[in-house]
Amino acid sequence: MNGKVCVVVLGFLAVAAGAQVPAQQRPWMNASLSPDARADLVLNQMTRDEAFILIDGYFGMPYQAANRPLLTAEIKAQMPMSAGLIPGIPRLGIPALTESDASLGVANGGNMRPGDTATALPSSLLTAATFNPEQAFAGGSMIAREARAKGYNVLLAGGTNLAREPRGGRTFEYAGEDPLLAGIMVGESIRGIQSQAVLSTAKHFALNDQETARTVMSANISDADARESDLLAFEIALERGDPGAIMCSYNRVNNNYACEDHYLLTEILKGDWGYRGFVMSDWGAVHSTVAAALNGLDQESSNGSDRLDYFGPPLKEAVAKGQVPETRLRNMVHRILRSMFAKGLFDRPVVKGPIDVDADLAVAQTAAEEGIVLLKNDKAVLPLSMAKRQKIAVIGAHADLGVPSGGGSSQVLGIGHSKELEVPTGGGTRVIAGETWTLPRDTVVLHASAPLTEIRRMAPQAKVTYAAGDDIAAAVALAKKSDLAIVFVHQHMREGVDVIDLSLPGNQDELIAAVAAANPHTIVVLETGGPVTMPWLDKVDGVVEAWYSGNRGGAAIARILFGEVNPSGRLPVTFPITESQLPHPIITGQRPDGRIIGTNGSPTVYDVIYNEGSKVGYRWFEDQKLPPLFPFGYGLSYTSFAYEGLKVTGGNTLAFGFDVRNTGTRAGKTVAQIYVKPPYGETRLVGFSKVDLAPGEVKHVTLTADPRLLAMFDGDANIWRVTDGEYQVRLGGSATDKAATASAHVNAGTIRP
Ligand code: GLC
Repeated sequence: MNGKVCVVVLGFLAVAAGAQVPAQQRPWMNASLSPDARADLVLNQMTRDEAFILIDGYFGMPYQAANRPLLTAEIKAQMPMSAGLIPGIPRLGIPALTESDASLGVANGGNMRPGDTATALPSSLLTAATFNPEQAFAGGSMIAREARAKGYNVLLAGGTNLAREPRGGRTFEYAGEDPLLAGIMVGESIRGIQSQAVLSTAKHFALNDQETARTVMSANISDADARESDLLAFEIALERGDPGAIMCSYNRVNNNYACEDHYLLTEILKGDWGYRGFVMSDWGAVHSTVAAALNGLDQESSNGSDRLDYFGPPLKEAVAKGQVPETRLRNMVHRILRSMFAKGLFDRPVVKGPIDVDADLAVAQTAAEEGIVLLKNDKAVLPLSMAKRQKIAVIGAHADLGVPSGGGSSQVLGIGHSKELEVPTGGGTRVIAGETWTLPRDTVVLHASAPLTEIRRMAPQAKVTYAAGDDIAAAVALAKKSDLAIVFVHQHMREGVDVIDLSLPGNQDELIAAVAAANPHTIVVLETGGPVTMPWLDKVDGVVEAWYSGNRGGAAIARILFGEVNPSGRLPVTFPITESQLPHPIITGQRPDGRIIGTNGSPTVYDVIYNEGSKVGYRWFEDQKLPPLFPFGYGLSYTSFAYEGLKVTGGNTLAFGFDVRNTGTRAGKTVAQIYVKPPYGETRLVGFSKVDLAPGEVKHVTLTADPRLLAMFDGDANIWRVTDGEYQVRLGGSATDKAATASAHVNAGTIRP
């Protein structure tokens, strides 16, 4: 190119890095070329030392880890004060990867960047509860716009792990228990993020379904069961969202660490699924150099978080010795560059600038309004009247300040954040199975949208009084002299810790029961990370699941309570009556004093045997003939719907046609759901459609099942097998609703994974 003979030894320049390659001499910037071609062009100009820059990442803060190469001034200058940094290579015009968490907005946990606020989406579980892929896309697109404005070109988003363990501390960050729903919703969120030229991950690959002992546990499950559940969610999310990177997880899978598991990373992800992006590690999830490199890890995300800088000097030595072929090193870098080209990081470099707060808050509020679930509405206690002169008691869960969010790396400091919104939670003890468990203390970050303020705004004629709820007697006294009582209750969840059971923490169950005894018109608003038990359910008139409702959550809750919005959320997780119904009554590894011990008391073995296999959530409840408290897919409306005229056509898959009718007196949205029971294997969701109907309106809906959803995975033959036979179909508004049923014959068939 510049007259110099460049010797390319197996893919890297064999001379010391030369001078800056002038912009006009960078053919890889020709956007008409394919991402692969562009990656090869720049690779051929790269030295081996430069290659190592792209595969050996740093924690995104300038802290100097012990026994690590000194952070150079050049590296420190690039530090994005966030989760991660992959330094750029200015000589070749390669931008740095400035990585931020995550799925709920541009995170700033621990106030790493003092005062840097961002719009906080509702929890991913709430967005899943919308059953509306457009909401997921809109949310992803919005947080990516904010990421760009703050200088980040990677969002470590796309939490795809199934809510196999509903006590999992990150249930709020994921999209529920069903692989089709989770795959579609996370895939659309990723697609939304990447529509803004921000690279997204899908994470945590794979089976990181609980937080207890996450860095040592082994998730043990058969290949077939994993393929039909957790891996199917990832497969669908990858097909829908095409994430630039996959983040491998902390845990082991069948005793192999996920970030060095050849079967997961190379045979399934890159082989069967043909994934062309790159695999980055979770922060501290790398445990080797040669094994990780050879088995499919492409980038060590945070060399200061791992025990060693595995992809630093040790990998250079391994390549020099031939333990890791140069071709594999080239492939690692090719994948990273390819994704950077494919996702627009070269062609649309991020430029810092202002965020459109009002527009972005509206995205958060719209999602919240569509994902809040009405669970109970006896005596039509809801919607409340805006005009009525009445006394309303609002009790509990800091409803006078804001709405809760989940803790951990996904923590966003929402717009309007202040220290006042960081409140203590947890502590105390609880007796479970005869043992006294200690509840960990934590700080929960509220988002500045106080339900109390918004309720007052919606009902100017009413006298609305607040009681904190920690003093039950005071709350009861207020409830007694009120026309109705709205009790807000909170289940805190955070990364790194699982909840010990599904009871509302503290004295909240007692609070609800006492208020309900004092006032016959009691409404409970749940602000939870996942499902909770409800021993007081028959004592209250109304129950609304508001999840973690994001930066405009208080407004969304109030608009639902007063009927400005007709609730249309549906449960993305099964709510059990008690934990004894779950496949694992106690989470493996959890101990009353907070210590973690291994399986059967072993000091070293942390095997979590997922013997429920692919029977996650409603599949388990149906298989075990267990009645849930509220089923997957369930949700009420202020109107009513009929699902009728079901027609099913068989053949090599199943095609469905049916009508949805609004049989009530006000407009509303519902989610029509199709479940199929194959001749062998358990029932599964094969399709859903959210429809918006005026009173009396009918809409015809057609759906076709992805044949993999009708199939069982044959691990020996490594293929999906559709059994010949009669398939039972049900249409309705939840996993247990049988508004219409039919059956049809499906031919035997196989599908390559
Ligand atoms: C954390 C999380 C991961 C996050 C990463 C960077 O430990 O497991 O989801 O993206 O580290 O903060």
